[in-house]
Amino acid sequence: MILQRRRSNSFLIFFLVLTTLCSILFTIYIIYFSTLPKIPRRNSSPRLPNISNKGCTSSSNSEASIPNANNVPIMNLRKRLGKNKKKVMLLIIVSTAPARFERRQAIRTTWWKHCTDDKVKCVFVTDGFIVDEIQRELTIQERNRYNDMELQPLMGGREFGLRFLNQIKWAHANFDFQFLLRIDDDYFLCLKRLLSELPMRPKKNLVWGFFHCARATQITWIDEAFMIFTADIIDRFLSQNESVLLCHPHADQQIAIWLAKIPRKLYFHDKRLYHDPPASFSRKFDNIKNICDSYIGVHGTYADKMKNFGQNANDGKKTVVDIPKFSRFCPTTRFNYRLMDVRFLFHPKLCKDNPTWNVERTMFIGRENN
Ligand SMILES: *[C@@H]1O[C@H](CO)[C@@H](O)[C@H](O)[C@H]1NC(C)=O
Ligand SMILES: *[C@@H]1O[C@H](CO)[C@@H](O)[C@H](O)[C@H]1NC(C)=O
Repeated sequence: MILQRRRSNSFLIFFLVLTTLCSILFTIYIIYFSTLPKIPRRNSSPRLPNISNKGCTSSSNSEASIPNANNVPIMNLRKRLGKNKKKVMLLIIVSTAPARFERRQAIRTTWWKHCTDDKVKCVFVTDGFIVDEIQRELTIQERNRYNDMELQPLMGGREFGLRFLNQIKWAHANFDFQFLLRIDDDYFLCLKRLLSELPMRPKKNLVWGFFHCARATQITWIDEAFMIFTADIIDRFLSQNESVLLCHPHADQQIAIWLAKIPRKLYFHDKRLYHDPPASFSRKFDNIKNICDSYIGVHGTYADKMKNFGQNANDGKKTVVDIPKFSRFCPTTRFNYRLMDVRFLFHPKLCKDNPTWNVERTMFIGRENN
């Protein structure tokens, strides 16, 4: 009897352990797959238009040549508004993937709320050629509902450089801005603080953000997650000869390559920008209040943290300090893509050829992946 009960007990325990293990494994499996980024595969849908050469060239048969997949309202890159462009001090472009609805909502309920006066315009820019039908429908609905989103003629690939080129073309075609901020959708922004100090900042030659400085190789470049340019720099970018214009899969290297040809430019490495590791995973930001007293922007701020920061940010006008000499941060202002770490090393190619790179092989996906 006793022996039998022991045996049935151990069977019971074995059974319990087995089911617990199974459910743990299943949960891990579910979590893992639900957090993978949803990146549509190229050429996987016959419904999508042939977009070869549309990103980087500005052909003269302009508007008509931009494909309009399944009635997706694609942004107008080549309006000729002339003097009728909307005049703003600051144009903010938040670069975001269609699937990142939650991040956009977190922004809409936090720093977007300060985007009210007519000095500033805030827009989400996402890819309009969306393979997944449901995602495409949701994105169009979201755009129509909030009226704060533009869809660019790109698929959700890793064409960060092309994406940037599209964004500045659209910005240039539609707005007469003094400053352009291109920012990631996981950046908390102290917008009131920024707006209050912009009038005191240089109106020309300015490149403002968080820079990387590789001392060993003597190169520097601005991180693409947060970049402010004065309008003249954007003009310089867009007035490059299109037959020799270079594109790169990483926007920050492409911009560094373009900037290398501009002799007089003012690099502003802003220590009030928090960059890495993501704020959402850093203990430093647990229960932090009045974040805008110490920062002007915080990277790696995902939806929950965004709302958390927004509750008590104390955003507003603060003391403005002069732009520190760049040489105090980095001994060089030069850039050479050949000296980049092998993980990020790609050779630039002519934009007009609508180039692709074998990016999946070595591409850094870290932050995108959560
Ligand atoms: C896309 O267009 C180019 C040039 O018009 C053409 O050579 C190419 O075959 C087309 N590709 C597809 C998939 O239709
Ligand atoms: C652009 O570059 C090409 C190739 O070097 C050259 O033939 C052309 O004249 C240039 N165009 C302009 C407007 O400078």
